[in-house]
Amino acid sequence: MTDNDSRTIWELRNHPLVSIRMVNNEIIPYYNHQKFISGLAGNTDKDYFIIKDKNLNIIGSVNIDYSESPYPERGIFINPAFFNNGHAYNSMKEFYEYANSRWGLPGIMTKVKIDNAGSNRLEEKLGALLYEIKDGYNFYNLSF
Ligand SMILES: CC(C)(COP(=O)(O)OP(=O)(O)OC[C@H]1O[C@@H](n2cnc3c(N)ncnc32)[C@H](O)[C@@H]1OP(=O)(O)O)[C@@H](O)C(=O)NCCC(=O)NCCS
Repeated sequence: MTDNDSRTIWELRNHPLVSIRMVNNEIIPYYNHQKFISGLAGNTDKDYFIIKDKNLNIIGSVNIDYSESPYPERGIFINPAFFNNGHAYNSMKEFYEYANSRWGLPGIMTKVKIDNAGSNRLEEKLGALLYEIKDGYNFYNLSF
């Protein structure tokens, strides 16, 4: 990831329309972001990806935590400038296809705040199954 990409991802992660939906919704200082990103190199439990379009606009970010169960946990945020254009749905369809066929991932679990209408609709549209409601979160899993 270039320094420019890293800075944009940091700005988007702190955007009020994104951070309010996250488990940790506090503003992240740039120094902490840099430390987190460099720490990923030695972390085999987590992968983080940038989603770009063909014009190299930064559409958002998707991350996987392989240590979660029953399946690895997926997180996502989309750049608010590109909300409601089908990017989350289309990129996740493509990502799941790839993760299953190339890495052999058997499925994905997600944890979504109950009042996050967009993300709950995204899960439903992707075909994920709501299997638990706990502490203000909906828990979904999707078997590939
Ligand atoms: C949730 C999020 C990922 C959706 O991304 P997106 O690219 O705008 O979603 P899509 O355009 O692919 O839409 C997928 C579906 O969700 C619906 N949707 C999206 N945002 C919505 C909203 N705010 N309210 C209700 N429905 C919404 C879309 O209409 C579409 O459903 P439809 O085909 O039935 O109309 C994006 O809003 C986001 O990043 N939010 C902030 C961070 C976040 O919530 N991350 C997930 C944490 S669990």
